[in-house]
Amino acid sequence: MESTTLIIGASGQIGIELTMALRQQHGAQAVIASDIRPTTDTELLQGPYEVLDVLDKEAISACIEKYNVREVYLLAALLSATAEKNPEFAWKLNMDGLFNVLELAREGKLDKIFWPSSIAVFGPTTPKEATPQHTVMEPTTVYGISKLAGERWCAYYHQRYGVDVRSIRYPGLIGYRSEPGGGTTDYAVDIFHKAIETGKYSCFLRSDTRLPMMMMEDAIRATISIMEAPADSIKERGGYNIAGCSFTPEELAAHIQVEIPEFEITYEPDFRQAIADSWPSSIDDTYAARDWGWKSKYDTALLSTTMLREIHKKKAPSTVTHH
Ligand code: SER
Repeated sequence: MESTTLIIGASGQIGIELTMALRQQHGAQAVIASDIRPTTDTELLQGPYEVLDVLDKEAISACIEKYNVREVYLLAALLSATAEKNPEFAWKLNMDGLFNVLELAREGKLDKIFWPSSIAVFGPTTPKEATPQHTVMEPTTVYGISKLAGERWCAYYHQRYGVDVRSIRYPGLIGYRSEPGGGTTDYAVDIFHKAIETGKYSCFLRSDTRLPMMMMEDAIRATISIMEAPADSIKERGGYNIAGCSFTPEELAAHIQVEIPEFEITYEPDFRQAIADSWPSSIDDTYAARDWGWKSKYDTALLSTTMLREIHKKKAPSTVTHH
């Protein structure tokens, strides 16, 4: 049997788009999508789909055997805002899920693992501008603590057991294909939907909160290219900084107003403001550029026009059928 790739957490923000991109590249049968719940998503159902709990190591092992899986993308996790509401479960899900997959690789059942880290590994004592690859890391959120611990475990499994695990510190990811998934940066997804649907948005962050962001297409390209890079070019076995564009809610709103002049934004910061305040505002990604040729394509203006255009397109067919 041909070897396959397994995506755990395929229904999530990154998972759906990564499944589509990898199936495009390798064929639908070569990419096994899985998530904790059954799906009705027609894209995910274009190829094999399994209900899989990342906390059930035996079930993952059985799935690996069934499909001759050699590579895993482990995307199942609670994001920052959701994790703060349930720290104990977030820690369990984010860490035990990673351990299960790292152990399966140590046992020789996998050749390669992708595991996402995040800008949440940084904290209030980290330099905020052009945050370097190697710097002070004192995260204050349970999500950030789990990502930093996970990075160190990835590096440990690589150094001690030779496990080929690769990781990226994603900034806030902005895509039109999937729903926001409980992140602090997700205002910048929701804002586009609200702008088109109602012409108004109430933002849960202050107007001047600058955070590192990235168009989903860039993030998927980064993910596939770090996984395709020769093993010896991957010098960082924790997580790589990658940069897209940085913006504030106010700046993003101004971009939207170029196309929707009547768009109005108001600000009602909640508990997520403290999370955002602890994170960098921009990222230095020279290590990723040097080691595996990373370069982003989307600036804020292109991100904004792409989001508005694609969300419009998605809504257009249903408008037509209702008439
Ligand atoms: N976008 C994520 C979040 O806000 C950060 O990794 O939780």
